Amino acid sequence: MSLLAKRSIVKEDKSNIITLGAIAKEEKKKDPEVVNATIGMLYDENEKLFAYKSVDKALSLLSIDEKYAYGSTPGSKDFHDAVKSWVFREYYDDFKDISEVMATPGGTGALSNTFANYLNENDKALLPSYMWGNYKQVLYENHQDFMTYNLFNDKGGLDLVSIKECMLKLKKEQGRILLVVNDPCHNPTGYSMTSDEWVSLIDLINEISYDGTPVVLLHDMAYIDYSKEGFEFTRKNMKLYKKLNNNAMVIMAFSGSKTLALYGIRIGAQVAVSNSKENLIDFNKANKFSSRSKWSNTTNLGMNLVVKVFKDKELRKSFEEELKLSRETLIKRANVFLEESKKCGLKTLPFDCGFFVTIPCENPDKVYEYLVNKKVHIIPMGKVVRVTISAIPVEVCKRLPKLIKEAIDSLN
Ligand SMILES: Cc1ncc(COP(=O)(O)O)c(C=O)c1O
Repeated sequence: MSLLAKRSIVKEDKSNIITLGAIAKEEKKKDPEVVNATIGMLYDENEKLFAYKSVDKALSLLSIDEKYAYGSTPGSKDFHDAVKSWVFREYYDDFKDISEVMATPGGTGALSNTFANYLNENDKALLPSYMWGNYKQVLYENHQDFMTYNLFNDKGGLDLVSIKECMLKLKKEQGRILLVVNDPCHNPTGYSMTSDEWVSLIDLINEISYDGTPVVLLHDMAYIDYSKEGFEFTRKNMKLYKKLNNNAMVIMAFSGSKTLALYGIRIGAQVAVSNSKENLIDFNKANKFSSRSKWSNTTNLGMNLVVKVFKDKELRKSFEEELKLSRETLIKRANVFLEESKKCGLKTLPFDCGFFVTIPCENPDKVYEYLVNKKVHIIPMGKVVRVTISAIPVEVCKRLPKLIKEAIDSLN
């Protein structure tokens, strides 16, 4: 008999990404020819983990206290202001008094707190049909569940009809809604919502919450700084948050892992926006409690790095220039991958930008096996395989589509 409690017996980390990523890493260590297109981190054209020089410089400037002392549970005022100045950028003045920040270990911590505090036990979060699988585990850990909306309509755009149907169903079943969107550069597809889709989504949330039904939009913005449209476009969409009525609010999940390439440092934040002071006070109270109970406080080193990079004028400027280069690299890799896919007739799901390209297929596990035999590691998930273009050089992006097409065709 297992000593585990009832709900824990079924716990098993089903994340292909971590397990298969570790295998790929080991294989690559043994043989440099192996292609590791598994884990969502940025690698340079020489297949070395990419680090931002400005972030590294900021690290060298931190004092002993700034690195090793305990931080506060919600994070310092400086950290809050640094995150707001980055997330809202030119709209900082519009948002600084109607937003609150809570430090978390990565975007994952932000997701965990948000699920914990805006859904009751056994309630369902509304997740996209293609998704980063860890949402489900975080929900299970919180004694919660999920329902999925269809991500794409038949035109390859956001399926707002499905989102509305699911929202109405959840409204009826549980009287509250927590909707997750991962935008831009959605993981795993690389889809980004259009401005019109953002307008319609915010209108829909207002419509559904108008009668007092609580609706929380959890905006997972992990990849926001890699949008090919650049900072201005993504921040302009945020302006729509000001239109939400007081029964609805937005909580953004900011990821220092992705924006600053600080994956292992574990720094992120929840950023809540609401016109209602009461909503913001509640946000601070409940999420501070959750943070204190789960991880006590977030890494001081991570928080102070964020402050240094975002608040020091020179460092911020050089970081922005480096980010721009990363975006350009990703765009180049994506363009090559998509061009070659087109040439060989390999279909991909709707893609705009970001770390991943996803290919629909009937037997993803078999495609995975075929490719491993050719020294290529990707991630099979559901009815797709995901290729992490952030981790592979342009030259590999050029030859991979044909190989994946071969793999799929060999199984037909
Ligand atoms: C869509 C998405 N959201 C959130 C995260 C969380 O990342 P972290 O906790 O490292 O910030 C990831 C990481 O891969 C992700 O892909």
